[in-house]
Amino acid sequence: MKFEKKAVIFDLDGVICFTDKYHYQAWKALADRLGIYFDEKINDRLRGVSRMASLEIILERATETYTEEQKEAFATEKNDTYRDLLKNMSPADLTDEVKDTLNELRNRGYKLSIGSSSKNTKFILGQLGLGDFFDAIADGTDITHSKPDPEVFLKSAAKIGIDPADCAVVEDAKAGIEAAKAGGMTALALFGDAKGCGMEDYDLTSFSDLLNIL
Ligand code: BG6
Ligand code: MG
Repeated sequence: MKFEKKAVIFDLDGVICFTDKYHYQAWKALADRLGIYFDEKINDRLRGVSRMASLEIILERATETYTEEQKEAFATEKNDTYRDLLKNMSPADLTDEVKDTLNELRNRGYKLSIGSSSKNTKFILGQLGLGDFFDAIADGTDITHSKPDPEVFLKSAAKIGIDPADCAVVEDAKAGIEAAKAGGMTALALFGDAKGCGMEDYDLTSFSDLLNIL
């Protein structure tokens, strides 16, 4: 199968790099401290959704009710733990497969951009040595609605000046696949709960599989 597209919009966490495992570790530390059950299956529901929406999902299993102020403090605590984990990242955390595939897509003439719900996007891209690589970045600092709302992908497409119908989105989150489809884009699922969710246009076998279909 081949898709005729002009641009590829990438999710960040769990697609370009494996920061999804750091999100999990940081939420797990908070949940354990609060005595709230949390596992990798629940964590799948946090993929693609904002920090506060993620916290609300974790708190579904809490026996106490917390004030908005306490919730803000929990989100900050999680983000501090997460940022500590991110500090150890370096260009070595970018796999050769991702690096080579991105370079080849650029050689083939595609515009390449990011569409991530994360407010840590630019920091992570800097850590990976990709600070200047993408043609545009739309992230958690640009949007009011996180995935499954299409806002972040539509912003990303607008920044590169490409019609949504000419964009393919690569996602590890079901919420991200839903967002891509809501935005009129082609949705490519890689890993996570995106794969096999039923709304995707194509299931990628690996990141480099992009080179077989684009
Ligand atoms: C998404 C992650 O990329 O970013 C979510 O998949 C996360 O799990 C969201 O909650 C927001 O991230 P951050 O870095 O702004 O807390
Ligand atoms: Mg993701």
